[in-house]
Amino acid sequence: MAIRNIVTEGDDILTKPCRKVEKFDARLHQLIDDMIETLAAAQGAGLAAPQVGVLRQICVIDAVEGEAPLELINPEIIAQKGSQTDAEGCLSFPDQWALVTRPMKVTVRAQDRYGKEFQFSGEEMTARCICHELDHLQGTVFLKKAERMLTQEELESGSYKEG
Ligand code: NI
Repeated sequence: MAIRNIVTEGDDILTKPCRKVEKFDARLHQLIDDMIETLAAAQGAGLAAPQVGVLRQICVIDAVEGEAPLELINPEIIAQKGSQTDAEGCLSFPDQWALVTRPMKVTVRAQDRYGKEFQFSGEEMTARCICHELDHLQGTVFLKKAERMLTQEELESGSYKEG
């Protein structure tokens, strides 16, 4: 495994749509393992392949505490419910935080690293993270969906929640 460089704001790759994964081979597994290691090293909640320079529909999400990250290949949201508005950030946009509205609950259909199809449902932070990472796969960054930016002060005090 290896830690890969995370692409940051200004790189065109973050605005391009990803192609589907067709080969579920050792090379894919290597990439996923590297993404998991990169996510852990960066202490992030999720990471999408374009963030490590690969335009493929792959993301990893720290969905369940104490468990290995969720691996989503060719994911698609098939159901969503409710809404939540909260602070959101991105490893490709260090020190930037924005207020973003997302569904409260989503169900995603995806393939695992062997190509087997499965479904996963997540709520609150996990739902937010799934939506954020799936957006990356379409070339959409969270700032595009931001209601407004948050200052460090607002973030730390939580004052944005009161408005
Ligand atoms: Ni992101």
